[in-house]
Amino acid sequence: MNILVTGGAGFIGTNFIRHALAVRPDWRIVNLDALTYAGNPANFEDLAPEQAERYRFIHGNIGDTSLIEQIFSEESIEGIIHFAAESHVDRSILGPEKFLETNILGTFRLLDEGLKFWKNMGRPEEFRFLHISTDEVYGSLGPDGYFTENTPYDPSSPYSASKAASDHFVNAYFRTYDLPTLITNCSNNYGPFQFPEKLIPLMILNILEEKPLPVYGDGKNVRDWLYVIDHCDGLIKVFEQGKPGETYNIGGGAERQNIEIVYLLCDLMDNRLGRFGKKESRSLIHFVADRPGHDFRYAIDSTKIKQELEWSPHHRFEDALENTVDWYLNHMDWVNSVRSGDYRKWIEINYQKRENG
Ligand code: NAD
Ligand code: DAU
Repeated sequence: MNILVTGGAGFIGTNFIRHALAVRPDWRIVNLDALTYAGNPANFEDLAPEQAERYRFIHGNIGDTSLIEQIFSEESIEGIIHFAAESHVDRSILGPEKFLETNILGTFRLLDEGLKFWKNMGRPEEFRFLHISTDEVYGSLGPDGYFTENTPYDPSSPYSASKAASDHFVNAYFRTYDLPTLITNCSNNYGPFQFPEKLIPLMILNILEEKPLPVYGDGKNVRDWLYVIDHCDGLIKVFEQGKPGETYNIGGGAERQNIEIVYLLCDLMDNRLGRFGKKESRSLIHFVADRPGHDFRYAIDSTKIKQELEWSPHHRFEDALENTVDWYLNHMDWVNSVRSGDYRKWIEINYQKRENG
């Protein structure tokens, strides 16, 4: 099967491609990625020769319709798994336009090219367009309750508003044109290859380098954490067995307050680095100005994917977090290669502003 993956040089896409090449020996994967600050093509340099033969990287934009058209016919694409996006909420607050361009316009163009290709191929029944979305489209929960597939959309940030818009276009292409689409709305992922602007890798590296640990607000906001490989397993199930037109929520069932995560990481790292007593990393914690429009709590009800597709997360949060810490400590070359001048500029813009209130 020939599959087009978009955004495969980013965090989840990288884990997905590496995992899928291993567990689906009959898949050939074409990875189309624009290589923004978040994309790293070197993530595939160590593929085994047999897997490397089934993998092709194309540097390009999902909004480039002639390139998409060329890839579809050249590679006889039989399915699309669409990860490409601008994905960081704080960046969307400081510069929303890029989010509209990629997440809305880019997704629309990919859908439209996909539709043309699917029609030209005689509307093959087994063709799938899987759109990877987020639980953030549902907005914020109070202390109780869960997001189900029927929760009304209520996005808070420019990022989540752009993902919500893209979800609506995907559903519109199913309802209006019968394109066999699927959507997954998933909770916070963690694991290897995550860009160190996101909470977990940022904290791991700041702890390592004894820098302040910037906790937004009072640190009591709650996220539902999902190990990235469990997410990838869910995506393969939805792609292969999901019903076109349907949405599937995917959650880790591991709700934690941000401050709990930071404490846990401090303790894990102190253990690894032999920091005790006065040197304990918890002393680096620094409460800073909150994220505007900060959603209080996300929590997913995964009953549908569990019952219909027999998926469930296999990794225990504390174990997989420990593996993640070790991955970063053992891959400092990777970390240094992704922390470019642009990254340093971002850290300055996002955190200096918070310090100054
Ligand atoms: P990421 O930021 O790590 O990676 C995004 C990738 O997309 C990068 O490789 C980037 O170069 C590429 N890209 C960006 N714009 C592009 C364009 N116009 N054309 C082609 N490629 C482009 O993101 P991620 O965390 O891996 O998230 C992947 C997807 O999963 C996103 O759609 C995101 O909304 C969704 N999601 C993420 C999480 C999470 O916790 N990280 C949770 C739920 C859903
Ligand atoms: O829920 C799924 C979403 O999870 C995805 O759609 C997004 O692409 C992904 O980035 C993630 O969004 P969050 O905003 O939840 O993730 P982030 O790692 O940015 O922040 C997690 C929590 O930690 C959030 O409540 C804000 C807080 N935080 C974050 C950073 C970067 C801090 O307290 N300090 C920080 O420095």
